Amino acid sequence: MKIGIIGSGYVGLVTGTCLAHLGHTVTCVDQDPTKIRTLKKGKIPFYEPGLMEMVLECVAAKRLSFTTEISKIVNRCEVLFICVNTPPMPDGGADLTFVEKVARQIATHLRGYCLVVEKSTVPVETGEWVRQTIKRNVRKGVQFDVASNPEFLREGSAIRDFLQPDRIVIGVSSDRAEKLFRKLYSPLKAPMIVTDIKSAELIKHAANSFLATKISFTNAVSRICDAVGADIEKVALGMGLDPRIGKQFLKAGVGFGGSCFPKDVSAFLHISEKLGTRFELLADVLKINDAQAKYFVEGIKNSMKTLRGKTIGVLGLAFKPDTDDMRSAPSIPIIQMLQKEGARILAYDPQAAAKAAETLRDVSYVSAPYAVAQGAHAIVVLTEWSEFLNLDWARLKKSMKDRFFFDGRNMFQPEEMKTLGFRYSSIGRPSA
Ligand SMILES: NC(=O)c1ccc[n+]([C@@H]2O[C@H](COP(=O)([O-])OP(=O)(O)OC[C@H]3O[C@@H](n4cnc5c(N)ncnc54)[C@H](O)[C@@H]3O)[C@@H](O)[C@H]2O)c1
Repeated sequence: MKIGIIGSGYVGLVTGTCLAHLGHTVTCVDQDPTKIRTLKKGKIPFYEPGLMEMVLECVAAKRLSFTTEISKIVNRCEVLFICVNTPPMPDGGADLTFVEKVARQIATHLRGYCLVVEKSTVPVETGEWVRQTIKRNVRKGVQFDVASNPEFLREGSAIRDFLQPDRIVIGVSSDRAEKLFRKLYSPLKAPMIVTDIKSAELIKHAANSFLATKISFTNAVSRICDAVGADIEKVALGMGLDPRIGKQFLKAGVGFGGSCFPKDVSAFLHISEKLGTRFELLADVLKINDAQAKYFVEGIKNSMKTLRGKTIGVLGLAFKPDTDDMRSAPSIPIIQMLQKEGARILAYDPQAAAKAAETLRDVSYVSAPYAVAQGAHAIVVLTEWSEFLNLDWARLKKSMKDRFFFDGRNMFQPEEMKTLGFRYSSIGRPSA
């Protein structure tokens, strides 16, 4: 099938590349000429394991190409995916400016039937609004369908998530649209949930909000663990073995970040309020998450008494491992708070340092993990990159001035870190 992808960021590029890998002929559009130039040169503008190789393979097979001009693809494609960003507005609502612009552009160029799919995460009823926007601007008599096909991929494992999804959700309003989706996704073996468009939109917001709730719930329990000297890891294990609860997303840490959870929870709260049925629980989920970064910094301050003139070595900046994405990364407020207290920051991240430097100023970015320990009074772990598990801690400790170690991701075992000579603390677990 001939597919057009509009917006070639994380979701658009992964979607387009994977569909090309499955045998479709895909053109990815982006309004950012630098991004398209980079892609045409065989490079990708962000880090995602395995993506570069797959892009090169699909380009070589002539099934994947790139352009800045939406007009070139609209009439050549049976399906057009809208994959543009839907960033948060100051009031928490989703900014749909980019979605609206694309809907108008599609309408301007459309001459024959096409299925227009919202893949971007959008508030409920956006599909209907996209349909009306296209209808108002398209030539008389031109047929089209609008559908919702929310994306559940995770950065860092995006290709596997796309090619082996738990489920494919499609929200459609015609048999023709459903048939096109069935043909498109026929190579994938996953249950397909077919709903109306509004339900599909709600599935995405509800799923992300539920996962974020699990994280905030666990973080709230971890503080009770800290208060009484209990162990959140054991509490989470004891809870998670109940299949009604499940083990995943019960990990205490410095809070959730990234381009999805904070934005999607805020947008879901905002739309619920607009619909007159405010989802109060979500306000608390966000409040707990914001407070978690502050709580972590307070813990560092309490242990070290003062941070003025202290050097802190930070391991990990990205909002999670295996990505260079810094959007809403907890490392940003945490490092800014530490700097405000007078600490000097040395930081290492295997992939995200360049993107971090766009936001986090006055940080000395180093290119090897051991370099963060140089003259440091404390080590702070903010992202659980697996390479940190294999560091030679004795070597790292040797170049430190003091032995504080704050593990914001509960990556290490308190007993072992104590034996290594660190003054180790983590979240919701008793220090050894
Ligand atoms: N990143 C994720 O892990 C993830 C997962 C699931 C869903 N989503 C959702 O998918 C959507 C896209 O997210 P992303 O992370 O890929 O964003 P992104 O910022 O990485 O990519 C969006 C791209 O759209 C382009 N764009 C904007 N307006 C355009 C236009 N008019 N024409 C052509 N290109 C245009 C931008 O230049 C950018 O390259 C968001 O709604 C997000 O919530 C993201």
